[in-house]
Amino acid sequence: MTPNLFIALEGIDGCGKSTQAKLLAAKLQEAGYRVHVTFEPTDSPIGKIIREIFNLRMEADHRTIAALFAADRLHHLLNKEDGILKMLEQGYTVISDRYYFSSYAYHGTHMPMDWVIETNAHSARLLRPDVNIYIDMPPEKSMERLNSGRESIELYETLDNLRNVRQKYLEAFENQKGKEIIFVTDGNRPVEQIAEDVWEEVTLLLNNRIKQAV
Ligand code: ADP
Ligand code: TYD
Repeated sequence: MTPNLFIALEGIDGCGKSTQAKLLAAKLQEAGYRVHVTFEPTDSPIGKIIREIFNLRMEADHRTIAALFAADRLHHLLNKEDGILKMLEQGYTVISDRYYFSSYAYHGTHMPMDWVIETNAHSARLLRPDVNIYIDMPPEKSMERLNSGRESIELYETLDNLRNVRQKYLEAFENQKGKEIIFVTDGNRPVEQIAEDVWEEVTLLLNNRIKQAV
């Protein structure tokens, strides 16, 4: 039986997560794995409320936003149609562009991180990633990319905020070490070099799984 993994991609806005998600999925598929690529906020009705807030069409307190993300995440895990748990059960390797470390980092800038970790405890109990891949980027570089690639900038996409979020990611990794597998790669390099690092880590995990199974 081929093993399957749950991989979360993390990093500040514009660090290259969705680019790397696509490349990793293509490599896995080429190697014969079935792959499901997904993302948070999702495009479920809960995710749509979040996007309304992000596009400044609706106002909400940071606590409400954090709780909406936690609900969106549970739905992402548990929905019967293409929920992460169901896809894993069916043998897919699931790559998620963001998971709960995004909440720890983005909401941890506005409220105590322990509150955010507690709010996401159900998700952590249901499923921890086999690896959290963190694409580390200087916030200044991310802002350059976001400014050149998009017409509108979302709620959290300011330089000051991205600096805070990067700091909170590092704090969250420290806070959760021993509980989580975290792989850090330097995102300020050509796309292919990052993809090679990611591929090396993922093949290592897959080979370990294969060894454990025999
Ligand atoms: P994210 O999903 O983390 O927001 P994206 O993958 O959408 O980031 O990348 C943001 C922008 O930066 C896109 O225009 C993408 O083509 C570009 N990009 C991604 N990775 C790199 C890289 N390593 N070097 C230069 N540009 C990149
Ligand atoms: P992003 O991955 O950038 O989506 P898109 O490419 O469609 O803009 O995520 C949107 C924003 O959501 C981003 O600024 C990070 C934020 N976010 C949180 O604040 N908390 C969370 O739990 C998650 C998953 C994302």
